[in-house]
Amino acid sequence: MDTVRKAILPVAGMGTRLLPITKAIPKEMLPIIDKPLIQYAVEEAISSGITEIIFIIGSHGQIVKNYFGSDIQLQKNLIKIGKHHLIKLIQNVMPMHINCKYVFQEFPLGLGHAILLAEEEIGNNPFAVLLVDDLIDSDPHPPVLKQLINIAISKKTNVIGIEEIMPIHTNRYGIVSINKTNQQAEKIINIIEKPDIKDSPSNLAIVGRYIFNPKIFSHLQNVKPGVNNEIQLTDGIVSLINEQDVYAYRYNGSRYDCGDINGLFQATISYGMKYHGLLNKI
Ligand code: G1P
Repeated sequence: MDTVRKAILPVAGMGTRLLPITKAIPKEMLPIIDKPLIQYAVEEAISSGITEIIFIIGSHGQIVKNYFGSDIQLQKNLIKIGKHHLIKLIQNVMPMHINCKYVFQEFPLGLGHAILLAEEEIGNNPFAVLLVDDLIDSDPHPPVLKQLINIAISKKTNVIGIEEIMPIHTNRYGIVSINKTNQQAEKIINIIEKPDIKDSPSNLAIVGRYIFNPKIFSHLQNVKPGVNNEIQLTDGIVSLINEQDVYAYRYNGSRYDCGDINGLFQATISYGMKYHGLLNKI
């Protein structure tokens, strides 16, 4: 596998755990201090060497497009009121050299279905998938996506980020069984999507960072609806394992599950204190 330049960001989910706010605003646009969640994933991707981002958008997708699009009128107005210094701030939202594509997912048929929609844009290239609601602070280590890309290049194959979770939470994640060799990257033997604690093969959960060969698409095409009646990416990966190695990689970093209010709140406090010096005087 050569270096990875393309990334898919599926942002068409319904955000049911964050209703009612997600009735009007996609969860990916909710703020962590001064930036929407999606901006953190975009910055992680770009600092990991990604130059093309394919957003899979749903019914609220126009909000995402507006945010990343250029706003000449806003720039003119900032100049008019003498606030030139703020222009850089809005231009940095999406650097000029990044190629953005938007693909519309009409119905929420699952993560596997969302990824499959990007097949044409990916072509015959290796690619990354970032799930925006998994916000990962990897400081002082390299960005998590970069850590995964390095492993994918050295192993010449597919890699997925994993972490240890509390056993009571197995029914929230894809849970992997691996060959235990005490390495940071280990070959995956099987994955079960959202198992009950009693059926779970381990407490090692997939987090939202993946690197794939384009071979995954032919496997996703044959996946039938699984858990929650959705086309699950996990089921595509289980099928891919029969043909190619898929490694699980224990990344260095702290994750916040911003798909629910607990994670959003924790991330807000933690990023506010660490990166903005907020609450320091309390
Ligand atoms: C998805 C995947 C799951 C993975 C999780 C990570 O689930 O299906 O395998 O563990 O992301 O956040 P979701 O959170 O979309 O239900």
